[in-house]
Amino acid sequence: MPDTLQSDLASDAVASDALARAEFDRLSVRGRAFLGTRYAILGGAMSWLSERHLVSSISNAGGFGVIACGSMPPAALAAEIAATQALTDRPFGVNLITMHPDLLDLIRVCREAKVGHVVLAGGLPRGEAVRAVKEAGMRLICFAPALVLAKRLIRGGADALIIEGSEAGGHIGPVSLGVLAQEILPYIDEVPVFVAGGIGRGEALLAFLEMGAAGAQVGTRFAAASESIAHPRFKQAFIGARARDALPSVQLDPRFPVIPVRGLANHGTERFMAHQADVIAQVMSGAITREQGQLSIEHFWAGALRRAVIDGDVENGSLMAGQSVGMVSAEQPVADIIGELVDQACDVLSRRGTGRTTRLV
Ligand SMILES: Cc1cc2nc3c(=O)[nH]c(=O)nc-3n(C[C@H](O)[C@H](O)[C@H](O)COP(=O)(O)O)c2cc1C
Repeated sequence: MPDTLQSDLASDAVASDALARAEFDRLSVRGRAFLGTRYAILGGAMSWLSERHLVSSISNAGGFGVIACGSMPPAALAAEIAATQALTDRPFGVNLITMHPDLLDLIRVCREAKVGHVVLAGGLPRGEAVRAVKEAGMRLICFAPALVLAKRLIRGGADALIIEGSEAGGHIGPVSLGVLAQEILPYIDEVPVFVAGGIGRGEALLAFLEMGAAGAQVGTRFAAASESIAHPRFKQAFIGARARDALPSVQLDPRFPVIPVRGLANHGTERFMAHQADVIAQVMSGAITREQGQLSIEHFWAGALRRAVIDGDVENGSLMAGQSVGMVSAEQPVADIIGELVDQACDVLSRRGTGRTTRLV
């Protein structure tokens, strides 16, 4: 091939890539503006995992890290926010669980630390919590499990929504992201809507942006990142797992409800089935009351995520993981994971011809 043609093709490829990246930026402009970030990618809050190191790494790599407050008391949250601010000057958010007994104090901590965005998770937020976030001038992000609730949350003051499909890791609803996105994205324009659940590659991120999403929240793919403080055995379990290994918890008897949580099957999930059977038998025999039985089932997993993430007990602990765990194939730096997602999306746009220069046609 003559040198001039080779160099023309090379510069066409560079131009095509630049235009694909500009198109990707255009598709995610609303999400980026809302978050104040280079990329419209939130690091989904993961209890025990989403602490200063992972959160600051995600923000430093151009995404939006989110601290998982979980059951932390207000003083611990204040310390975690301060430590994160010491590691990044980029925006990050805080995820608070609505049933936390000190929710209003936690919101005050976020306000005092000048956190820009608060995610209220774990159920529809009460009016006083919404008011406290709004009066503090922070942006409020809520989870919308259905269209009617999405509209109600927006009327109530939500500045952005996350729709999370049942493919996700952790506590899940019953509907897949593919269906939720069709139910909600075409009908909500008032606020940015971020998608979550099962996003493991950039092609999927691009598809949801093209459906009208403002960006995506990714959890599982970040859990085994190099900067994640998870125990090496926890990371190894993620790296070795397939999509089909990430299963929702099973409820044995409708009289004893179990909140569905998706995670990797292990000895703990087997013991949970046996525990439910045992409790049900005890209630039937009159040895314990139904309320005692329900509490015993609910307490089974108490502390179990910490045991797996921090102590590395991957046999008995809780290995919360989404189906995208099948796309976790190595321990990678956060910047590489985000870079991969962006490159995969831009490759599609580039191949499709978005940005093709006239010289190539
Ligand atoms: C180990 C783990 C812990 C999680 N903990 C929380 C949590 O404390 N609060 C929350 O709102 N979501 C939690 N999630 C959900 C994530 O924030 C995120 O929405 C979800 O992981 C996205 O789906 P994906 O895992 O398929 O990427 C957790 C997910 C995982 C995998």
